[in-house]
Amino acid sequence: METKSPELEIAIKAALEAGKILEKYFETEISRTVKEDKSILTKVDQEAEETIKKIILEAFPKHSILGEETGMTENGNEYLWYIDPIDGTRNFANHIPLFAVSIALLHKGSLFLGVVYNPATDSLFYGESGKGAYLNDNRILVSKDDASHSMITVSRGKNNPDERLFRELLHDFPKKIVPSVRDLGCASLDLSYVACGGFEADIQLGLKVYDFAAGILLIQEAGGKITTLDGGPWKFPDNHFIASNGVFHDILVEEIKNQKAKLGIE
Ligand code: IPD
Ligand code: CA
Ligand code: CA
Repeated sequence: METKSPELEIAIKAALEAGKILEKYFETEISRTVKEDKSILTKVDQEAEETIKKIILEAFPKHSILGEETGMTENGNEYLWYIDPIDGTRNFANHIPLFAVSIALLHKGSLFLGVVYNPATDSLFYGESGKGAYLNDNRILVSKDDASHSMITVSRGKNNPDERLFRELLHDFPKKIVPSVRDLGCASLDLSYVACGGFEADIQLGLKVYDFAAGILLIQEAGGKITTLDGGPWKFPDNHFIASNGVFHDILVEEIKNQKAKLGIE
């Protein structure tokens, strides 16, 4: 990217610093606590989030921040940051290198930037509105592959209203439409890999804004397509959507419609 905004420079700095903390603890035995929503929490999630918040607030003391672990720091500004210090904590705690720091910034309600960093592979995805998306400083674009050559992901949050749809999509897609469907257990990487052409699509059912905001910005900037599950226009912060390379988006919409009808879901 020719010129990064000061906000993007800080988001990258914060992601890299948090990444160092994750790297330090990765593949060590870390004690975990189970949160109310059954997800797990480690001291690393907290330490990483505090580091990110400190870096952002030192640079932009008037910005507001919503972090997964520490909640809302409201400063009444038109800039709002979303932080997931470890997206994929279960993978991280189980020594599986599919996790990432995810940071997004909204300006007056519109996505302004997104950074997703996996320190285990040293993959730094970043993008800024109108300036493109990048992986380790190389411009990225969505793939051009059609359904028959595709690999897609399906991810769901703890507040997904219907687990059956997730299971159906995950297990029924391969036979009918696409050769490979998976769930990485790290929603921000699911989306980042759509942005750089590794996956052709990601279907998300009920995740939190800090899970997907950065990844959505990357896909928008990489030339992808994002709609609601029924193919309508997607608007922030709708957390049920299809994010794809745009080549066979209609097929995905149709299949979700069929699966919902089969399950009797509205
Ligand atoms: C989780 C991951 C996962 C998704 C879960 C999320 P966390 O985030 O994104 O892919 O299936 O619903 O909660 O809890 O590891 O930050
Ligand atoms: Ca997450
Ligand atoms: Ca998390």
